[in-house]
Amino acid sequence: MLLTPFEGDRFLFAEIVRLCAVHKIKTIVETGTQYGSTTRALALLADQVVTVEMASFSVFGLPPNVLPLHMDSPEALRMVLPDIARPALFYLDAHGPDKTPLLEELSVLTKQVLFDCPIVIHDFQVPGKDFGFDQYGDQTVNLKFISEVISPLINAGFSIVYNSQVEGARRGACFLIPKKE
Ligand SMILES: C[S@@+](CC[C@H](N)C(=O)[O-])C[C@H]1O[C@@H](n2cnc3c(N)ncnc32)[C@H](O)[C@@H]1O
Repeated sequence: MLLTPFEGDRFLFAEIVRLCAVHKIKTIVETGTQYGSTTRALALLADQVVTVEMASFSVFGLPPNVLPLHMDSPEALRMVLPDIARPALFYLDAHGPDKTPLLEELSVLTKQVLFDCPIVIHDFQVPGKDFGFDQYGDQTVNLKFISEVISPLINAGFSIVYNSQVEGARRGACFLIPKKE
């Protein structure tokens, strides 16, 4: 169990700090709260954090600007998107041992007009690196896996960037960045 933010990866934290500053992020939405260690760090970076967890979880010690939701992440995204202050940053980190809601989450996000909002996907296969990533049977969480669902973002000029340095759990991350940068 890693109780440090971003599973001990300060490079990832630093990149999210940078994205929040450049994009003037007002709200962060995290899917997959688990122990809330990353949630607490995210709460330092935006006026409001919405964090979503499907399993039972403790909200003890979460800062007052955190709204914890105990529900399925795509459903939570559908529910909160109309009301959150924007720009928002989405940190997609919900997954279990056998499945991930990632495609459904991205499908919800790309159906809304969210073209000012960066999206960060954790546990993503980074080309040419030995960083960790998720795999479900013969499905690898990589660009091929998400390419169809993110096509509206690509058509809107989003760029796809990966993390280049890791520490802690050494997991890959994919950043979908609005045109602005
Ligand atoms: C890797 S952990 C999240 C780690 C946390 N974000 C952190 O940085 O410390 C993934 C979490 O996603 C949750 N999860 C899995 N599927 C989900 C879903 N459909 N909706 C919400 N949470 C989900 C799991 O219960 C698990 O606690």
